[in-house]
Amino acid sequence: MKVSIIGGGGLVGSCAGYALQCGGVVSDIDLIDVAGDLCRGQALDLLHGASIAADQRIRATDYAMSIPESDFICITAGLRRKPDESRLDLINRNVELFLNILREVKGAGPKPSAIVLVVSNPVDVLTYLATKQLGLPSGQVIGLGTQLDSARFRSLIADALKLPPTQVTATILGEHGDSMVPIWSAAQAAGMPLDKFPGWTSATADALFAKTRGSGAEVIKLKGGAGFAVGLAIREVVHAVALDRKRILPVASLVSGTYGMRDVCISVPTVVGRRGVEAQLEIELWPKELSGLQHSGQVLRETIDLVLKANPNAAKAGAPIGVGAAPPARPNAPVRVTMGGGNGSGPASRSKVTISGQGGNL
Ligand SMILES: NC(=O)c1ccc[n+]([C@@H]2O[C@H](COP(=O)([O-])OP(=O)(O)OC[C@H]3O[C@@H](n4cnc5c(N)ncnc54)[C@H](O)[C@@H]3O)[C@@H](O)[C@H]2O)c1
Repeated sequence: MKVSIIGGGGLVGSCAGYALQCGGVVSDIDLIDVAGDLCRGQALDLLHGASIAADQRIRATDYAMSIPESDFICITAGLRRKPDESRLDLINRNVELFLNILREVKGAGPKPSAIVLVVSNPVDVLTYLATKQLGLPSGQVIGLGTQLDSARFRSLIADALKLPPTQVTATILGEHGDSMVPIWSAAQAAGMPLDKFPGWTSATADALFAKTRGSGAEVIKLKGGAGFAVGLAIREVVHAVALDRKRILPVASLVSGTYGMRDVCISVPTVVGRRGVEAQLEIELWPKELSGLQHSGQVLRETIDLVLKANPNAAKAGAPIGVGAAPPARPNAPVRVTMGGGNGSGPASRSKVTISGQGGNL
């Protein structure tokens, strides 16, 4: 699978390139960046390690050369957040730049089957714009969403409770931003409920979530921007597509009824495979988690309205790519999964599972 990384000269793009090189799964890594020398330097540095890492083709290139051949287009180009700036404040500075990138991508002629991953912030809003503008089926446009937040959450929980990080499963849904929602109802370590582990208290939980939510700003303050972890978070999405893994990831995509939300891109549990978003799962949540998620959807919808008002061009739907060749636009209909026993006061019982709806293709 051939991957193009737009913004490949930057911190996030180059770390994604390195993570994909270490992963050794994809066949080609193309870096595209308006900063030509920086981009060529990053590609050369990666190329030097190719003989140790994997048999991959790596190059610095441009939209016209890369996009028509690309199976996976990862957009990391964008302005970085300032330490005291919210992700949504970035919006005015980033939307115009992002719309230009979408025009470049579309003008270069992507494959009708291409999967697009938006990483640039504010990621959920920009994913929505890409969904509307690119003319690809909505399931082929994915936002990194709360994938990085969830990774940070699990790693920080493991660090605090002295647990093996890869055995902690916990997720964050909603906005990649201030209204993100921790899903404690499903938090586990080694398959056991997290709240039964020694050292666990509700104060610990609150502190860990607060630390996770502030992690992005903390990293920006300390080293200028996030790189390694976001590179790995991107890699997990790329590999889920490349290997048709059908992994359930907290990535953002257009919702059409999932958890009662519509016409917004937001992170819900999402099955990711070769066709991109293959289903959105509506796992039963605690009532306060559900209301937090719906609030997050409202926050994002209000921001999208502001963006569309300030940028009338962003509201115009792009023409479909490869008319006749592309699969029909597939609404991301939710698959409802109800876990018996959840009453909002503790983790839901994991013994009874009913699937009450079928959307997408699991
Ligand atoms: N979604 C997430 O979880 C997450 C995490 C970290 C960072 N981010 C976001 O990723 C973006 C990039 O962050 P960074 O730290 O890598 O910034 P950076 O400044 O290091 O890199 C951005 C790169 O984009 C390039 N660029 C700008 N316009 C371009 C264009 N039209 N075409 C191609 N390249 C272009 C720049 O030359 C630069 O090299 C920011 O918006 C940041 O907020 C998102």
